[in-house]
Amino acid sequence: MQEPTRGARSRRSRWFPLVWVIPSVLVLLVVIVLAARALVATPALRSFLADYPGQSALPAGAPVGFPAWLEWQHFFNGFFLLFILRSGWIIRGKKRPTAFWVRRNEGRFVTRTPPVRIGIQVWLHLATDALWVLNGIAFYVLLFATGQWVRIVPTRWDVIPNAISAGLQYASLDWPTASGWTNYNALQVITYFITVFVAAPLAVITGIRLIPGLALRFAPLDPVFSARVARAIHYPVMIWFAGFIVVHVTLVLATGAVHNLNHMYAGRDDGSLLGFAIFAASVVVMVVAWFALRPAVVTAIAGRTGSVRTMPRG
Ligand code: HEM
Ligand code: HEM
Repeated sequence: MQEPTRGARSRRSRWFPLVWVIPSVLVLLVVIVLAARALVATPALRSFLADYPGQSALPAGAPVGFPAWLEWQHFFNGFFLLFILRSGWIIRGKKRPTAFWVRRNEGRFVTRTPPVRIGIQVWLHLATDALWVLNGIAFYVLLFATGQWVRIVPTRWDVIPNAISAGLQYASLDWPTASGWTNYNALQVITYFITVFVAAPLAVITGIRLIPGLALRFAPLDPVFSARVARAIHYPVMIWFAGFIVVHVTLVLATGAVHNLNHMYAGRDDGSLLGFAIFAASVVVMVVAWFALRPAVVTAIAGRTGSVRTMPRG
């Protein structure tokens, strides 16, 4: 028999773990569901679920529903993250960049340090990061200025038993009733809180530490916060975002898609198809932008902000 080539072997070994990973995950899921169903049938757990139905009460006067600014920001957040994740993933692949960008060192902004050459995907990452951070700052300001923050920041300790209760309900496949219009369930509150107030700031702090042009300036931080440490945090944060998005979008679509999409895309709490239509249009915008931002287009845009040198292929 012919020996597999090195390429074929590495291709096989890369995907081979899936042969046992997928069945193991499925078996684990079945075990979790059966265990959760057995647990919630016991009198102790039944009374726990009655005491903690999965939602923690909101302070009096908490806002109801979704203002238009939140809907727009939610869309832009997802839109920018799409390209942040794409460029981050390519950077991690460590392929030789197809082009390099250099800041123009002229005019009013002359500095003594020579400009650093960065790969075109790092440029795209930083450009979309800047837009994402601006959107995020506006989101924070509006969240606290309008009182909307109480919906995604835990304010009572009973959010913990309620989150356990909601988790048990998901695991037993008897899902908590979706009522995101007035109050998220406690597990949602905690996950949104971690995403907005822990994962996002961590991505920003560790990301800034990794900016190639600032490496020298940050050198004094090396003993406590080296680029290695920053990268070791930055990447798991990306895994959190990717995992969050998969679970979030799956649950949005699986727990009353029409109502949920009306909440976040049309600002209404009814059974019309408007939210779904706007969501579908937003997906079209993202798909078009995904294909439109070809390397040549990214290079052209980058060229307007600095000097871009395209590398010969091969
Ligand atoms: C395009 C895919 C997405 C869809 C369809 C979607 C849909 C939704 C919906 C329907 C809600 C309201 C849930 C409810 O009423 O129970 C919501 C809330 C939320 N989503 Fe998304 N989402 C998407 C992407 C994202 C992304 C990428 C993030 C961030 C990484 C995100 C973060 C959030 C947060 C933080 C909230 C709570 C906002 C608040 O009330 O202040 N979503 N999403
Ligand atoms: C302000 C926010 C952010 C900044 C300033 C930033 C900056 C950076 C920089 C400078 C690098 C390193 C490039 C290099 O190695 O030369 C990087 C890598 C990366 N970024 Fe970000 N980033 C930010 C947010 C994010 C977010 C939100 C995600 C994902 C959700 C993300 C995912 C990644 C990934 C996967 C890599 C590759 C990491 C590796 O090679 O291990 N970044 N980022």
